[in-house]
Amino acid sequence: MMPENGLDTLAAFDEIYLGAVGWPTVPDHVSLWGLLLPTRRTFDQYVNLRPARLLRGVKSPLANPNDLDITVVRENTEGEYSDSGGRVYRGTPHEIAVQESIFTRRGVERIIRYAFEEAKARRGLLVGATKSNGISVTMPFFDEIFREISSDYPEVEASLMHADALAARLVLDPRSFDVVVGSNLFGDLLSEVTAAIAGAIGIAPSANLNPEGTYPSLFEPIHGSAPDIAGEGLANPAGAIWAGAMMLDHAGYPDAGTRVLNALEDTLASGTKTRDLGGTATTDEMTDVVVQRLGGA
Ligand code: IPM
Ligand code: MN
Repeated sequence: MMPENGLDTLAAFDEIYLGAVGWPTVPDHVSLWGLLLPTRRTFDQYVNLRPARLLRGVKSPLANPNDLDITVVRENTEGEYSDSGGRVYRGTPHEIAVQESIFTRRGVERIIRYAFEEAKARRGLLVGATKSNGISVTMPFFDEIFREISSDYPEVEASLMHADALAARLVLDPRSFDVVVGSNLFGDLLSEVTAAIAGAIGIAPSANLNPEGTYPSLFEPIHGSAPDIAGEGLANPAGAIWAGAMMLDHAGYPDAGTRVLNALEDTLASGTKTRDLGGTATTDEMTDVVVQRLGGA
């Protein structure tokens, strides 16, 4: 999946821009554990920041989306995504599969603290995604740390919500959310909901951040490689373009980031959009319009 010295090569760069990866003949756990997941971990990209906002020209599937603007802060290096576990008695009726979730105090504290900072810089509202009613060890631990840290942020209105109810409320009342923080798996699931209600999975970007800047951060669309439509010009370039805008912001070029996002939004608002958004443009056509709006070739 990656040259043996791939991570060493990447380490020399400030930022990494990643396309979606995956193909049916390569098992997913090979493509992911051979490239994306080790990159997130080796470079300690413990924040996965996933903004969802209804861009101009994009229609939400919800009847009443009300200017939804939600950022999911997903833990990105531990939790349910662990390769700790195994299978015994393979192929027998007694076969057992065990996979352990890993929640460390350091890991939980740093993601929750990041989310509080994010909420403080935004509308001051934070919801922690838990499931401490059913998952009786790691989730009460998560809740405990969430409450501890909340006392450092009196200006943030913070609450915990079970992830199942939270998923429903995202659909029913998206305007009541500002920042949502969740474990690796919950953040993954909930950010796909926020992407969908903000118009389409194809629009949503993500930033895999190493906030300390010790290692490069990585920017990618949240969607997968969509092999079923490969080469047909149907893929929505918006998620990748928005991820590029986030990368420019992070690299210290916020004006350039804003220009890219504005060019994307103006393009969508003018009606040039791919079919998943109800338009007729191909991937290339839509991308060309964005580039033209940027004043490029
Ligand atoms: C994502 C993706 C990955 C994840 C998969 C492909 C392992 O779904 O970035 O959201 O779950 O982290
Ligand atoms: Mn995902």
